[in-house]
Amino acid sequence: MTAARRPRSSGRGGGSPEPPVARAEGLAPGRGGGGESPEPGPGGSGIVKSRGKPGRGAAGRWTFLDVSTRKYTHAIHLYPARMHPEIARRLIARHAGSGDVVFDPFMGSGGVLLESMLRGNDAIGLDVNPFAVLLTKVKTTPIRKDLGAELGALLEKSARDRRSGRTRARCLPTGYDLGAWFKPSVLGELAVLKHNVGGIGDPDVADFFRICLSLTVRRSSYQRNGAWKIHRLPEAERAGFDPSPTEIFAAVSRANVGRMGALVAARPRGRAHPILGDSRDARSVLEGAPGIPDAGRIRLVVTSPPYGDHRTTVAYGQFSRHSGHWLDLPDGQVRRVDREGLGGRTRRDAGDLGSGALNRTLDEVRRNDARLTVGKTPSRAREVHAYFSDLDACMGQVSRTVASGRSRACFVVANRTVRRVVVPTDRILVELGKKHGFSLESTVRRDIPNKAMPSRNAPENAAGVTGSTMTREAVITMRC
Ligand SMILES: C[S@@+](CC[C@H](N)C(=O)[O-])C[C@H]1O[C@@H](n2cnc3c(N)ncnc32)[C@H](O)[C@@H]1O
Repeated sequence: MTAARRPRSSGRGGGSPEPPVARAEGLAPGRGGGGESPEPGPGGSGIVKSRGKPGRGAAGRWTFLDVSTRKYTHAIHLYPARMHPEIARRLIARHAGSGDVVFDPFMGSGGVLLESMLRGNDAIGLDVNPFAVLLTKVKTTPIRKDLGAELGALLEKSARDRRSGRTRARCLPTGYDLGAWFKPSVLGELAVLKHNVGGIGDPDVADFFRICLSLTVRRSSYQRNGAWKIHRLPEAERAGFDPSPTEIFAAVSRANVGRMGALVAARPRGRAHPILGDSRDARSVLEGAPGIPDAGRIRLVVTSPPYGDHRTTVAYGQFSRHSGHWLDLPDGQVRRVDREGLGGRTRRDAGDLGSGALNRTLDEVRRNDARLTVGKTPSRAREVHAYFSDLDACMGQVSRTVASGRSRACFVVANRTVRRVVVPTDRILVELGKKHGFSLESTVRRDIPNKAMPSRNAPENAAGVTGSTMTREAVITMRC
């Protein structure tokens, strides 16, 4: 069996280091921030890591350079812009009492839910991305069965299939140009693995191995490492790329079995409830969801919203596309993620949202829209407005969902640059919050040294125009 040229998970403890927020605009880096490295591999990442030192004071203390981001099941799969688990851990320890429910309206890969249950608190999360919901479910479901034995049996069945020439071609995803993304030999092995994962009777065990398969698919495909969006390895580099899906799957799964063992050993007392849903409708989604804790017990919100709309910042839908196809997630839902994410739909009427900081920012962006536009490019001011209009709707829903007068909401945000204008998301968030009954308690600025970020930063996609990336994010705590 030929070894993959692409670095294997096994070489790094089966890990899944995250590529950064690779995009064409000044942005804060991926939220991991604490010594995480980009996913190296074919095509190079195009990413550099800054070597800045953390500052003194709170910003330095909240940097967590030496705190692992990979404990328990945190690192079972990649996800863009993950929150550093230590941020969630600290906020929950500080603000959640026993019996309080923690809510994350932008759950992503579910780190907040995992930290809540480890602390003994139940937690509810919402996300529009079905892959995020599956990943969080797996991350927060302790499995006590002998997963090592399950893996052994699965690999044995797959080896038998391959020896007897069974192709399991029926299992290949449809509606997807497989030839454009995979070598034929790779497709055969993946189909066999998918067939045998699909044959597992226990749904929690099957979902666990589906997540392992998802990472295997990504690493066996021509998907360019270091890119969150759908980017293919250039043709010249494909000939030398010869991955072995079975080996990758075995290494990823072994590492994840170890991680699940660590979760089980920690005996988490809380329960996690990941839900597919839109935070702009949080209240009705929670009311309609069966079996979740009473919303009146939600006393703490810990969350990191997307930096901006998915199209111009992190395209979570595109990131999840390969996984969606191979895990049989509803294709329509995965395709809709980037349109349904915050700011996904622009509107003609940019109504006043009641934030002076936002209005001043929009004026500047509008001026630069006119000044800097080359050819026909979208109105960035309209995109910025759409994002904050949606965020405003979510804040309204959050304020109506939590136990009023006794709750706290903690947001981790970063200020991005649009049309050379720094968007002060931290201040805008606080101003929008006031409208909905939130009052600012504290803002902690956090250095993100050692960050992974795009090596080239082109805020206007224009030749020679570069912009700054950010080195800080803010942890904003409000009472509500
Ligand atoms: C920055 S990520 C959250 C990362 C998460 N804290 C973690 O550690 O993985 C933002 C998430 O918000 C989700 N999202 C965007 N718009 C949403 C909406 N309207 N309702 C619910 N989730 C949304 C995206 O799909 C994405 O998973």
